[in-house]
Amino acid sequence: MDKKIALLQDKINQANLGGGQARIDSQHKKGKLTARERIHFLMDEGSFEEIGMMVTHRSTDFGMEREKYLGDGVITGYGTINGRLTYVFSQDFTVFGGSLSETHAEKICKLMDMAMKNGAPLIGLNDSGGARIQEGVVSLGGYADIFYKNVQASGVIPQLSAIMGPCAGGAVYSPAITDFILMVENTSYMFVTGPNVVKTVTHEEVTSEELGGANTHATKSGVTHFACANEIDAITHVKKLLSYMPQNCEEMAEQLPYESTDESRPELNTFMPQNASQPYDIREIISVVVDTESFLEVHEAFAENIVVGFARLAGRSIGIVANQPAYLAGVLDSNSSTKAARFVRFCDCFNIPLLVFEDVPGFLPGTDQEWNGIITNGAKLLYAFSEATVPRITVITRKAYGGAYDVMNSKHIGADMNYAWPSAEIAVMGAKGAAEIIFKREITTAENPQEKWLEKEKLYSDIFANPYRAAERGFVDEVIEPAQTRIKLIKAFKMLENKVVNNPRKKHGNIPL
Ligand code: COA
Repeated sequence: MDKKIALLQDKINQANLGGGQARIDSQHKKGKLTARERIHFLMDEGSFEEIGMMVTHRSTDFGMEREKYLGDGVITGYGTINGRLTYVFSQDFTVFGGSLSETHAEKICKLMDMAMKNGAPLIGLNDSGGARIQEGVVSLGGYADIFYKNVQASGVIPQLSAIMGPCAGGAVYSPAITDFILMVENTSYMFVTGPNVVKTVTHEEVTSEELGGANTHATKSGVTHFACANEIDAITHVKKLLSYMPQNCEEMAEQLPYESTDESRPELNTFMPQNASQPYDIREIISVVVDTESFLEVHEAFAENIVVGFARLAGRSIGIVANQPAYLAGVLDSNSSTKAARFVRFCDCFNIPLLVFEDVPGFLPGTDQEWNGIITNGAKLLYAFSEATVPRITVITRKAYGGAYDVMNSKHIGADMNYAWPSAEIAVMGAKGAAEIIFKREITTAENPQEKWLEKEKLYSDIFANPYRAAERGFVDEVIEPAQTRIKLIKAFKMLENKVVNNPRKKHGNIPL
């Protein structure tokens, strides 16, 4: 028996070495952790249980039968993160560059099945040279098997992808389907085709970092939700993100213990600038209203005219969507609509109530927006709010103009409670533009057109640049003192905690994509 146990130990040692010490050293030299080290930092101490450590590939072409590594380039298993069951796979770049073979894919699929059956989040730590070139089509089949399961799992369990190294070609589509992507600056990249192919096809000269590095995807494409300074930062973000989420779509996120204190926030009564066109940073309002330091912004550097993220209110996890007057005056455009729609849908999948702060002057005009489909993209956000059945509350801080008023979680599309601050202006458009259109003849024929315009602007403004017309109709449930915002929200979300609403039965809706 001793010999047999020694053999087992020998195999475990082999598996732990992955592609060997030299390749581990090379991984470290690149400033990267190994697949096992990443798991060590991600999971609670001693909680990780590996599944499939002895799996090897079945390939026999190109002499592959002579080169086998236990585990075949991916470590799969389960454990806990802050005490909660979580499944994780971690690709091992030291084994064939972490490339995906048939068996490597099977290991990931098996884990995904377990995660779905047992209702717990799945974390993918990606570091891979793509399809195992020696295996050809079976490797591509393996990718497709994973994509299919990613889609099956979507909306059932949270799926998070941390990109710790290369992620190219077909490999990008599994993370793309998952709920959140985190990339590491300078050591990770994602692209469908790399710089060499780009140069051949389009004659563009571009580095991997420019084409698909963390900052590129965090700012230009929006592919990644987080650009993290290093791998430990990425792992810390994964843990933090998970803390706002439930285990699966049947559960609620954990509510943290909370002791009620003085919930009034008098500083908000003097927060709003005197001039209605003066910008302010909506994050300042968010941070005053939610539990101290609980706001985790998602997609921070992409489509900055809308702010989305998770926070806690009296210990409860909530999702926040807020127009950002400090950037493009907070207009809605294609990117901001798409960004917010995806976030709203995530929250709705996982029973996370939604809080909207609204200060929106409308949709961004221009050929660029129209030709790039602002109609379809704006409709995404409208659709996402309308179908969301979680508790939904809106606070209109200032402008709520035009179609954007309807889109931003208005009462008409199913919001449960809509509050407005006394500074709210709820109208079809700003008073200046409105006066120019409806009093055009009077203005142009007046002795002093400029004076007439100002007079009519004031008239329109007196009637609509306030929240009371909307409140008279019940489109706003209550006009509140800003200082009372937190108190009102805590009470309303508590009142809504058992909300039940069922959309009409259907196979699935057809969101404008
Ligand atoms: N299939 C099989 N083996 C692969 C592989 C793949 N797709 N990608 C990398 N490897 C192997 C390399 O042969 C090398 O093996 P070795 O340790 O025995 O020498 C090892 O992984 C490390 O690769 P290397 O090229 O030395 O690392 P790098 O950091 O310099 O470059 C990549 C990384 C990913 C940019 C590069 O390996 C690459 O371009 N791979 C191919 C990507 C691709 O076209 N994939 C298929 C389409 S999805």
